[in-house]
Parts: sequence; structure tokens; C-alpha cells
Amino acid sequence: MQQGKFITFEGGEGVGKTTQIKLLSNRLKDAGITCHHTREPGGSAGAEAVRHVLLSGKAEEMGLSPAGEALLFAAARADHVDTTIKPTLKKGHWVLCDRFMDSTRIYQGEADNVAPELIDSLEKLAIDGQVPHLTFILDLRAEVGLNRAHERREEGEDADRFERETVATHEKRRQAFLRLAHNNPKRCKIIDASQSIEEISFDIWKIVESELIAPNKADEEQSPTSDASQQPQAKEG
Ligand code: TYD
Repeated sequence: MQQGKFITFEGGEGVGKTTQIKLLSNRLKDAGITCHHTREPGGSAGAEAVRHVLLSGKAEEMGLSPAGEALLFAAARADHVDTTIKPTLKKGHWVLCDRFMDSTRIYQGEADNVAPELIDSLEKLAIDGQVPHLTFILDLRAEVGLNRAHERREEGEDADRFERETVATHEKRRQAFLRLAHNNPKRCKIIDASQSIEEISFDIWKIVESELIAPNKADEEQSPTSDASQQPQAKEG
């Protein structure tokens, strides 16, 4: 059975990941590809329980350090990878995930100064070799994204623990996401999220087509029995 492809969406607050995942999911369905939409923290029963602790501010209230938070994000991710992502890919379905390992690297690692060695070890443990085939980093000025996140909230709904942080902190994360993309150009693609929804969706689709759909077609034509090209990338680009 041919493995599915794993695509992650990253970026700051209010950059429009959810909308773009839905649009990509529709395009993939039209192309005859079955895909599963999931998110982090969350995406499995265990991980959703951890999500509540992290985002409600309970972890913060308990005085949990950024390293403690990184541990919780990693625990949630390990469960999500094990019970949702890997089994779905194994069935040959594609997985579109709203945030993944890069969010921990940027939010806890770069912005909250959790030691790089701890981030590396947790990442290795949590993803268990399941590096995304492609990661879209939706890039938008932090101030614009935060305003959008604010407008999106329903009346009476509070900002989550991360949305409450300052614009400067969010802008620091944005720059860190751009550096990460620069250092991993094969896997990470920067998308200008200040464009219209349609333009962003078009940019994403072009990359998915050329990187994940068209190369496979070419491989199948050359070697119908070989499945070597279907394996997830084991290393960073
Ligand atoms: P969510 O409500 O899913 O918001 P968003 O639309 O911004 O993705 O909240 C997830 C929050 O958790 C977001 O502020 C980023 C943060 N986060 C981390 O700090 N580390 C992580 O590893 C992950 C996955 C998310």
C-alpha cells in the first residue's frame, strides 16, 4: 500500500491556516485524494485533553515552566502521531495538520528559550521519524494576525494563553519561522499570507502539485512497481 503524504501548516496567530487547510482539502478531494484534517495541540483523544490544560492557561497557573509546557506539547504530539497520523498515512490517505513540530521549536524553543537540546530530544521522541513531506509557513505581520485572531473570537470568548502575549513576542516568533524556512528550504515553503484567500490557496496548490502530485506521476510512469519514492523524507532539507 502506498503511504499518504503528510503536510503541515505553520505560522503565527490569525494567519489563516484553517481556511487554507479546508481549501487544500477540497482541491485534493477533487483530484481523487482522500485526506484527513487534524490539528495540534490535539488530534487524538489524549492530545485533546492535554490541549485543554495548555491553552486554558491552567499550565501557566500551576507555574509550569516553558520547558514543562514543551514536555506537554511533546506528549500530546507523540499520542497524535501514534494514534492518528501514522495509521492514516499507512492507509494511503493524506494528512493535513494545523501546526506540528515546528510550533514547539518556535514557540517554546526560540521565543521562550527552552534549550535547543531539549527541543531536539523531545522532537525526536514525539514525531518518531514522521517528518512532514511539506510544511507551509504562512507569513503575516504579527500585528495584523493578532487583530484577525481578535476579530475571529466570538463575543465573551477569551484570548488563549498564547494570544495574550505581546506583539513583540509574536513578531519574534514570526522572524524565527522565517529563519527556520530559510534553513529547511526543501521542506518548508513560505507563503505570503497578506494576499487574498484565493491567491494564497493558489500558491499552496501549485507547490503541492509540483512537489507531491506531479513527481509521483512521473515515478509511476517510469517504474510502476517501485514504491521507494513514496517513503517520507527521513531528513531535513
Ligand atoms: P490554536 O487555538 O490552535 O490557535 P492557532 O489558530 O494559532 O493555531 O492554539 C494553538 C496555540 O498553541 C497557538 O498559540 C500556538 C501554541 N502552540 C505552541 O506553543 N507549541 C506547540 O507545539 C503547538 C502545537 C502550539
